[in-house]
Amino acid sequence: MENAERKKRIFSAIQPTGTPTLGNYLGALRNWVAMQDEFECVYATANLHAITVRQDPAAFRKAQTELYALLLACGIDTEKSIFFHQSMVYTHAELAWVLSCYTQFGELSRMTQFKDKSAKHADNVNAGLFTYPSLMAGDILLYKADMVPVGADQKQHLELSRDIANRFNNLYGDTFVVPEPYIPKIGARVMNLQDPEKKMSKSDTNAKSYILMTDTPDQIIKKFRSAVTDSEACVRYAEGKAGINNLMEIYSACTGKSFEQIEQEFEGKGYGDFKTAVGEAVVAVLAPIQEKFRQYMGDKAFLETCARENAEKALAISSRTMAKVYKKVGLLRY
Ligand code: TRP
Repeated sequence: MENAERKKRIFSAIQPTGTPTLGNYLGALRNWVAMQDEFECVYATANLHAITVRQDPAAFRKAQTELYALLLACGIDTEKSIFFHQSMVYTHAELAWVLSCYTQFGELSRMTQFKDKSAKHADNVNAGLFTYPSLMAGDILLYKADMVPVGADQKQHLELSRDIANRFNNLYGDTFVVPEPYIPKIGARVMNLQDPEKKMSKSDTNAKSYILMTDTPDQIIKKFRSAVTDSEACVRYAEGKAGINNLMEIYSACTGKSFEQIEQEFEGKGYGDFKTAVGEAVVAVLAPIQEKFRQYMGDKAFLETCARENAEKALAISSRTMAKVYKKVGLLRY
């Protein structure tokens, strides 16, 4: 039966630069999985974005395969969604060039991520780092995505993607769908375990501050046991208790319990019990994913076939957009 209403299309991508953290999972990837039933989803590893900073080729190659396997293990289902490596679909590089000619120097100069990253990698402020948002706009516009789930750090890039799309449409007539930001219904914001005022990040120098999705149960429990809290010794969600608030948020995201239920559960108990419980709840969520991850990693032939088939599907869709763009601009194509 034909669907009366076309499902809205979602596009999102994640950079293959190291193993994702618990924060990436609870804040974004879990939603990627959940959205697959309601929407038509197109997902990619943003490996072309990743080379805006230097990557060691061998480690980089491994990171891409591992990320692909890990996302399949999380439940990205290629029967429902398209999931590919950006570099395998050449239309991304192609549209990025065209769009870079419709993106202003001034606009790119205002991107806070560019300012941050060029300060952090002062010895390699390359043109790709600067034009990164044009590549990202291309990713989204190639698939006529209606919506893009974005966290705070990518909001400015999505805004610019919308501006580029509108500018192109105004010049050449309707070509691109202008994407809306999508705020998922559930989305935990996971903070640094050692400094709960900061977001959890795998680039932190202290490995105790983050949980990687592939950490062992033992590592996970230990990291939670050493998480920074406060001296009140009362499990309750309140201002000034960033450490406990964060642990409650994580526990809630992993068990589905409300803050109220959590406060009741740990009434009269110390932080030690609570921290162990949070660690165990996280292990319960991550262990089955890790098990599937190991299975996928043991079947490289499957991973390769899956990546190729999905890239072919992505190419079929994106080539249609690309042909339209060349035609509108007046570029020859055979
Ligand atoms: N730039 C995003 C990040 O670093 C990854 C990304 C690339 C992306 N292309 C995208 C996200 C398109 C959303 C839509 O997180």
